[in-house]
Amino acid sequence: MTRTRVAVLISGAGSNMAALIDAGRRDDAAFEVVLVVSNRSDASGLDIAAGKGVETVALNHADHGRDREAHERAIDAVLAGRDIQVVALAGYMRLLTPWLVGRWAGRMVNIHPSLLPLYPGLDTHARAIAAGDKEAGATVHLVTEGVDEGPVLAQARVPILPDDNASALQERVKVAEHQLYPTALDAFCRKLWA
Ligand code: GRF
Repeated sequence: MTRTRVAVLISGAGSNMAALIDAGRRDDAAFEVVLVVSNRSDASGLDIAAGKGVETVALNHADHGRDREAHERAIDAVLAGRDIQVVALAGYMRLLTPWLVGRWAGRMVNIHPSLLPLYPGLDTHARAIAAGDKEAGATVHLVTEGVDEGPVLAQARVPILPDDNASALQERVKVAEHQLYPTALDAFCRKLWA
């Protein structure tokens, strides 16, 4: 099977990115991470990707001032130059314009650290604990114009424990994410070309 060429967009640590890179190297993988792009040149995930032998590109959003679309056009040109077929957002902390979302409609996925539709946006773990929820989790979804609103592809659930704080819960959710995202992306890529 020809593997789907995936680019991962990050802004930070890149632990999900690393899980995707590793999963894409398994013998039976339906995808391969061939490029990692960050909107911050100081994102530590860039070093992890480079250490794994994956091409990295940093395109600082600040270089484009307030012009989000200009920044996205620069990213899109890099994606096109590498024949990218699917984009996976993994801790990419920029709101996307309708232009980029439209350009990648049906071929851009994201992972969000909550059981969507619960808790779109930021501070998901603290909000779940404050609400007294008994479980939290993560969602892989298609990216559409509404933030964290696209169709759900897969979810993973973890318990919220009595003494949890946001960072303890975040770590538990991340462990689940590192299983969920590669599995969901693999299934997504298989369906895309079926
Ligand atoms: C993850 O929790 C993901 O769900 C959210 O941002 C976090 C990124 O973490 N979108 P990492 O950079 O993959 O470690």
